[in-house]
Amino acid sequence: MPDYRDILAEILVPADKLQVRVSELGAEISRDYAGQDLLLLCILRGGVMFLADLMRQLSIPHAIDFMALSSYGVGARKSSGSVRISLDLNQNIEGRHVLVVEDIVDTGHTIAAVLELLQTRRPASLKICALLDKSERREVVVPIHYVGFDIPNKFVFGYGLDVDELYRNLPFIGVAKPDVYVTPGPEPPARP
Ligand code: IMP
Repeated sequence: MPDYRDILAEILVPADKLQVRVSELGAEISRDYAGQDLLLLCILRGGVMFLADLMRQLSIPHAIDFMALSSYGVGARKSSGSVRISLDLNQNIEGRHVLVVEDIVDTGHTIAAVLELLQTRRPASLKICALLDKSERREVVVPIHYVGFDIPNKFVFGYGLDVDELYRNLPFIGVAKPDVYVTPGPEPPARP
């Protein structure tokens, strides 16, 4: 199991900058949702660290829930375009203000699938808060209402994001060395 230093090319967002931005987002969200029935919906597993820090920066009452999505491939190198719900949230969202908390929006397929599903459950509002936005990779138009950082097209890890399920615990966002990053290819055939 390599140490993270073996695959780290550079630190893109240091821990102190992450914390400052998360607290700014928390203040903004607290203002925007004041007096509303807010549900933070975290997409597992990458969004966990962001959720935990963000909710501590909210000054308004709010509930949390979780969803997990499965996609073909291992960890973060999964292909986009084929997304299934593997764990559904267990709260009724009808009439509630739902804010989806996501680690990173890359091609946009994952979040587009989540939005499509959740819309059918008639929330009062449905918005997205993404820590990282790799906007130049976007293939599907998705509105992102709160963005932590717009980042270049590099494979990143840490602060919830993994490389093959590892290194989510790091307090910063790092860029992986080029040989670690595998460009997502075309959709692989479905498993039997
Ligand atoms: P999308 O469907 O292409 O927008 O991909 C979103 C998901 O891909 C994220 O929730 C991450 O799990 C994963 N992902 C995309 N880019 C990266 C990255 O640079 N590092 C780690 N995971 C990533």
